[in-house]
Amino acid sequence: MLYRILLCVTCLGVVLSQILTPLKGCPRGVNVQPDFDVRKYMGLWYEQERYFAIFQFTYKCGTAHYTLRDDGSVLVNNTGYVRLWESWDTALGSAVNIDPSEPAKLGVSFDEGPSMVANYWVLSTDYTNHSVVWSCIEESSVGNSQNLWILSRAHNGLPESKMTEIRAMLEGYGIDWRKLYNVPQNAYVCPGRHQAD
Ligand SMILES: *[C@@H]1O[C@H](CO)[C@@H](O)[C@H](O)[C@H]1NC(C)=O
Ligand SMILES: *[C@@H]1O[C@H](CO)[C@@H](O)[C@H](O)[C@H]1NC(C)=O
Repeated sequence: MLYRILLCVTCLGVVLSQILTPLKGCPRGVNVQPDFDVRKYMGLWYEQERYFAIFQFTYKCGTAHYTLRDDGSVLVNNTGYVRLWESWDTALGSAVNIDPSEPAKLGVSFDEGPSMVANYWVLSTDYTNHSVVWSCIEESSVGNSQNLWILSRAHNGLPESKMTEIRAMLEGYGIDWRKLYNVPQNAYVCPGRHQAD
């Protein structure tokens, strides 16, 4: 189902919301969250900012809900409000660690849609407030395509001081945070969501 494919917030975004940079490889020297603790990372995250996406017009109010399975893999449950159908829908997938020496480097695949594994690197998280997720793939002679998300535990987002810190980190890595778009998550925009604001 196309709309399910479009919903893959953190996976098929690689196909649909990627930012393409011709003739350049992925930025080098990008560090991930040290001592990443997947247990503390579980639970609900709100998309606060993401790269421009063709599916920005297709769903809104995206969230990601992560649940640790017994085998150590993560059940990914991405939910968004599909504008076309005017209803909430969900894309389910699985995330696993792809580099035992770097627990913050995950790969995500989804149950529906093209079978592919997308990078999911947690560059920074404090588990209780923010997460910065980056994905980059490069194809020699073509260039690189990147994806970037800033996730927040709170639907009303992160304080500006934290955003300034995050942007400085991304700037230092040569990752273009200026192409990020804000994702409104309030009750006026997200139908049926009961929130104080
Ligand atoms: C995924 O999240 C949605 C929305 O919260 C929920 O209705 C659904 O039951 C969840 N699915 C799974 C398999 O956890
Ligand atoms: C998360 O944000 C709250 C409110 O700004 C702050 O009190 C808390 O220390 C933050 N948590 C971490 C782990 O930085």
